[in-house]
Amino acid sequence: MKAVTWQGKRNVSVENVPDPTIQEPTDAIIRVTSTAICGSDLHLYEVLGPFMNKGDVLGHEPMGIVEEVGAGVTNLKVGDRVVVPFNISCGYCFMCKRGLQSQCETTQVHSAGSGCAIYGYSELYGSVPGGQAAFLRVPFADYGPVKVGSELPDERYLYLSDILPTAWQGVQYADVPEGGVLAVYGLGPVGQFAARIGKYLGHRVIGVEPVAERREMAKRHGVETIDFSKDTAEELRSMTGGRGPDSIVDAAGMEAHGSPVGAFAQHAVGILPDKLAQKVMETGGTDRLSALHSAIDAVRRGGTVSLSGVYGGTASPMPLLTMFDKQLQFRMGQCNVRRWTDELLPIVEEPSDPLGVTDLMTHEVSIDEAPAAYKNFQKKTDGTIKVVLKPQGLTV
Ligand SMILES: NC(=O)c1ccc[n+]([C@@H]2O[C@H](COP(=O)([O-])OP(=O)(O)OC[C@H]3O[C@@H](n4cnc5c(N)ncnc54)[C@H](O)[C@@H]3O)[C@@H](O)[C@H]2O)c1
Ligand SMILES: [Zn+2]
Ligand SMILES: [Zn+2]
Repeated sequence: MKAVTWQGKRNVSVENVPDPTIQEPTDAIIRVTSTAICGSDLHLYEVLGPFMNKGDVLGHEPMGIVEEVGAGVTNLKVGDRVVVPFNISCGYCFMCKRGLQSQCETTQVHSAGSGCAIYGYSELYGSVPGGQAAFLRVPFADYGPVKVGSELPDERYLYLSDILPTAWQGVQYADVPEGGVLAVYGLGPVGQFAARIGKYLGHRVIGVEPVAERREMAKRHGVETIDFSKDTAEELRSMTGGRGPDSIVDAAGMEAHGSPVGAFAQHAVGILPDKLAQKVMETGGTDRLSALHSAIDAVRRGGTVSLSGVYGGTASPMPLLTMFDKQLQFRMGQCNVRRWTDELLPIVEEPSDPLGVTDLMTHEVSIDEAPAAYKNFQKKTDGTIKVVLKPQGLTV
C-alpha cells in the first residue's frame, strides 16, 4: 500500500510498504478514506527528528471503513465507518476509566517514559505505524474507533480524531469564568477550533496569530484577532480593561515564531547525530517559548493558562517568579480524545455546523502530494491551513 513515510528532517516521501495485518484478536484494519496532516506532524518533520526512524509511517488523524476485524472484536463489523482517535487506549485501565485516555496504562510507552502509544508519532510514543496510508492497523478496536453515520462527508467527522477534541479539552482546561475573556495564541487548526469553541460556549475570544489569512479565517467565526509581537501582552491587557484575559489557550507550541534562543537550540539539535540529539532533547531547554511566555505575561492574575500546543524540552526556562506571584493555574497534556467524542459527535452533525468544521480544510489532495503539502503547511505557503490527504483517491 501507499504510505507517507519519514525520511529525515523536512523530508517525507510516499512509499510502497506492506499492508498491515491483524496481529491481536482485538485489532481491526481500516481502509483510510481521509487522513489529515497535523501541526504535531510538523514537530516530527523538524524538531523531533532524532526520535524518528527512516521509513516510519506518519499520521494520526485518520478515518475510514472497517476492512477486517480480529476474532475478539465485537463492537465493529466490516463496512462500519469510523474515525480513529490518535490515542491508542484500552478503555478499561485505571486511567481510561477516569477519562485520562492519553495516559492509558495498558499502552504507556515505558521505554520512553511516555503516556499512551500514538499512531505515527516516533519512538517517544511507541513507533506505531501511522494513518497517512491506505490502510491502518487499529489496536483495541472495540474501544478507540468512533462509529459515524454514512450520510455526511468525511470532512464533518475527520477532526474528531484529534484537533476538535484537543481544542475542546484546551478550552475546558482553560476554565473560562462566566462572562470571561479567552485568548488563544496560535490560529492554526487547533487554535481555530479552540477560538470557535470559546465563542460557542459564550465567551469573548481574542486570537493572537502572526499569519494574516489565519486571522481572517478566525474573524469569519466572530473571533477578535491581533498579530503577535513583543507587545502582545500589553495589547491584550489594553483590550481587557488593563487586567488581561481570564484564560489563555496556547495553541502555538514548541515551534512558536519570535523565539531566537529556542530556535538556536532547535537548530543545534537538528545538526547533531541522533543519539546525541536525543540526549540534548532529554536534558536541555529546546522549546521556542515566545507564545507561552507572552501568555504568562498577559493572563490576568489568578487566571489559567491551558497548553494544547506541544512542548518537548525538559529544561526549558520558565518565569517562575511571575507564575508564582500572579497565582496562575496551568493545565496541559495530550488530548484524551475518547473522553470528549461522545459530546462532540452531535455538534459536528448539526446542520448549522456551529463549530464550522466545513470551514477549516484548505487543501484536499491525493496522498502522492503529501511531500509538497507538508512543505506548504510548515512554511504556511499556498494559503495552507489544514490539509486532508485522500489515500483511496480524490473521488472517495
Ligand atoms: N495536546 C494535544 O493533544 C495536541 C493535539 C494536536 C495538536 N497539538 C499541538 O497543537 C499545536 C498547534 O497545532 P496546529 O495543528 O494548529 O498547527 P500549526 O502549526 O498550524 O499551528 C500553530 C500556529 O501558531 C502560530 N504561531 C507561531 N508563533 C506564534 C506566536 N508567537 N504567537 C501566536 N501564534 C503563533 C502559527 O503561525 C500557527 O498558525 C502544535 O504544537 C501541535 O503539536 C496538540
Ligand atoms: Zn494531530
Ligand atoms: Zn487504558
